[in-house]
Amino acid sequence: MTLTPVLSSYWDQPSSWTLDTYRRHDGYQALDKALSMAPDDVIVLVKDSGLRGRGGAGFPTGQKWSFIPQERSPRSDQKAQGDEGAGAKPHYLVINADESEPGTCKDMPLMMATPHVLIEGAIIAAYAIRARHAFIYVRGEVVPVLRRLQVAVAEAYDAGYLGKNVGGSGFDVDLIVHAGAGAYICGEETALLDSLEGRRGQPRLRPPFPAVAGLYACPTVVNNVESIASVPAVVRGGVDWFKSMGSEKSPGFTLYSLSGHVTRPGQYEAPLGVTLRELLDCAGGIRAGHELKFWTPGGSSTPLLTAEHLDVPLDYENVAKAGSMLGTKALQIFDETTCVVRAVRRWTQFYAHESCGKCTPCREGTYWLAQIYARLEEGSGGQADIDKLLDISDAINGKSFCALGDGAASPILSSVKHFRDEYLAHLDGGCPFDPYASMLEVPEGAGV
Ligand SMILES: Cc1cc2nc3c(=O)[nH]c(=O)nc-3n(C[C@H](O)[C@H](O)[C@H](O)COP(=O)(O)O)c2cc1C
Ligand code: SF4
Repeated sequence: MTLTPVLSSYWDQPSSWTLDTYRRHDGYQALDKALSMAPDDVIVLVKDSGLRGRGGAGFPTGQKWSFIPQERSPRSDQKAQGDEGAGAKPHYLVINADESEPGTCKDMPLMMATPHVLIEGAIIAAYAIRARHAFIYVRGEVVPVLRRLQVAVAEAYDAGYLGKNVGGSGFDVDLIVHAGAGAYICGEETALLDSLEGRRGQPRLRPPFPAVAGLYACPTVVNNVESIASVPAVVRGGVDWFKSMGSEKSPGFTLYSLSGHVTRPGQYEAPLGVTLRELLDCAGGIRAGHELKFWTPGGSSTPLLTAEHLDVPLDYENVAKAGSMLGTKALQIFDETTCVVRAVRRWTQFYAHESCGKCTPCREGTYWLAQIYARLEEGSGGQADIDKLLDISDAINGKSFCALGDGAASPILSSVKHFRDEYLAHLDGGCPFDPYASMLEVPEGAGV
């Protein structure tokens, strides 16, 4: 298997984040090409490439853009002015940079290393959907990323890539970097829109979908950072090049984030459809002397997989066939020293804390689940508790107002399915694992 660094191709260059470095690596060439095309043709190109959203659900990006009502301004035929004609509502592009899912860690390094690729993608996307305003909603706690983006946006304004008459094309666009207030639910696209409007971030009832009534009740596209950052390469390289990587339904390259008990954790950019076995080969394998126990294909919200699934192609279809979801491609690796009950308990506490409280199954259910896990780990749980975990998870899964509830249920249902014996072992006096054992291990060759 060969890695396909595109987004990450010059992350190790000195000052990779500056405009000069970006320009030395074909930066803003795709924008020139896009501006020479009609906006609708840019949408068709992205649609034909088969690029799928990298924020979790894998929805086709070009198709999402095409849902925006494409009224023409009476003053211009194909050149987008973004004000869409008399009486028409403005269009908005919103980039989701909230990245708060446990294990998910690709967008922040991308924005730190190459903020201009996201900015170029944002300008192209805004042009295509005829938006004059684009927002990057960044998780508020990540101040270094906010600063880096703000500096890069200022550089792009100075260079004439943002603002009035971009590149002499007649297209105007403003890009605003917005700091979120720090809640996982604000990554859910409609909660994000409420938060961006200055309200408490809670999911909205759909329909209407954001393409019809999104930010300020206007047609809005919400896309993940990696989705938008992939657009310049798609425009520059073209459909055939993009489709030469990956599988038929999941084409292209993507960032896989390996973390946990792996020798060289990090970002591995590879074609969609690579397997965990191949990625582990690149990453030096499971840490020395240990073996794989379980892993998440796409963050804590995606059902756990085990060593049985090492050869599942990591694309949207095949991971679904294996009973999980590709999600954000956050591959969290756990070896045999990890107590699965403890790991799932920690995630459950996270979901209980982050539940926004809008709907009963998730608000009450995640709270109860956290109580049960406390009993199991502390040794006061009974067989009925395992049944209750399953019952409550079932009452949340698919029956909550938004996908946070499904995400809370996923690790529980899948861990009981794969590791019921380990749950049963907890009924006999609590956790059989020594939580500190693996931390105290002396690495091979360490001079002690
Ligand atoms: C609880 C929750 C948190 C989410 N967090 C993020 C996030 O941090 N970043 C992201 O891009 N999508 C997140 N999503 C998915 C978004 O709702 C949305 O599907 C995504 O931004 C669409 O972008 P894409 O089509 O480019 O993948 C989250 C969804 C849920 C339910
Ligand atoms: S599922 Fe949870 S996070 Fe989503 S709306 Fe209901 S309470 Fe809020």
